[in-house]
Amino acid sequence: MAYRRFEGVDHTAKYARYRPMWPSHVVERVLSYLEEKLPAPHDRAVDVGCGSGQFTQLLAPHFNHVTGIDVSDNQIQEARKMNQCKNIQYSSGPAETLPLNDHSVDLVTSASAAHWFDLDKFYTEVDRVLKPNGCVALLGYPVRRTAVDANPNGILLTQLLSDFDKLLVDENCWEKGNFISHDGYKDLLFPYSDFVRDDCLTLEYEATLDNFIGYLRSWSGYIKYMEKYPESGILETLRDSMLKTLNMTSSEAKLNVKHNVFILLGRKPGP
Ligand SMILES: C[S@@+](CC[C@H](N)C(=O)[O-])C[C@H]1O[C@@H](n2cnc3c(N)ncnc32)[C@H](O)[C@@H]1O
Repeated sequence: MAYRRFEGVDHTAKYARYRPMWPSHVVERVLSYLEEKLPAPHDRAVDVGCGSGQFTQLLAPHFNHVTGIDVSDNQIQEARKMNQCKNIQYSSGPAETLPLNDHSVDLVTSASAAHWFDLDKFYTEVDRVLKPNGCVALLGYPVRRTAVDANPNGILLTQLLSDFDKLLVDENCWEKGNFISHDGYKDLLFPYSDFVRDDCLTLEYEATLDNFIGYLRSWSGYIKYMEKYPESGILETLRDSMLKTLNMTSSEAKLNVKHNVFILLGRKPGP
C-alpha cells in the first residue's frame, strides 16, 4: 500500500513552486556510473516518485524517452503544467507496479522519494524493467539538515532551523520515511552487489527569505503539524526570528541554502 503524504492541491502547488531543482552535476554523476557499462546513446529512463519533475527534467537531454511516475495525481498535474520537454511523459501510479515492459529501461531514478516506497516490491519492479547492465540511482538530501546562512554577512540561521525541526520532532510530525532520509539511507538494503554510494555532492542555491519560508511550507512534517494545529503561526515566528537575528527587512534578506546530497547507485548484472 503506497504511503500517502503529497496529495493535497495546496501542498503540491507549494512543492512545485518552492522545492529546489537538482543541480546538473548530480545527474552527471549518475550518467557517468551508467556509462561505465552501458554507453550512450540511451533509450529510456524512468524517474519514480517524480513529484513535479524536479529531477525528471534533467534526464530529458540524455534519453530518447523519459517517464516520470508518481502516486499523487496532483503532483503529476503540477509536473505536466511545468513540463517543457517533448520526450517526457508523466503518469500517475505507484512505484510498486511500474507501467513498463520487461528489460526496456536503461536507468531508474528516484530523487527524495524511495524512503516512501515498499522497497521489496519496488526492487522487484526495478529488476524486471531494467536492461542487463541498466542502473538504478536512489538519491536524496536530508531536508532536516538544511544549512542556511545569510548573504552577504554569513550569519548562521541553522540553529533557528534546528529549533523549528525539534518542534516537529517533539510533536511526532516526522514519519518513518523522513527518518530514513535524515540518515542518508545508510541502512537501506540495495538490490545489486555492483553498488557504490557517493556522499560528496551538494545542492546549493540562493533564496529570498520568503522563498525559503515557502520551501519550509512544503515539508511534510510542517504539513502534519498544521493539520494538528491549524491556527499555529510557527513559520511566521521563525521568519520573524530570522529577520531579528539578521537585523534586516524581508526584502533585504538573501539566504545561502545548502543541502548535502547522497546517491546510491547500483547495476543489474550484464549478459
Ligand atoms: C519528497 S517528494 C520528491 C519529489 C521529487 N522527486 C524531488 O526530487 O523533489 C516524494 C514523492 O514521492 C511520491 N511517492 C511516495 N510514495 C510513492 C509510491 N509508493 N509510488 C510512487 N510515488 C510515491 C510522493 O507522492 C511525492 O511526490
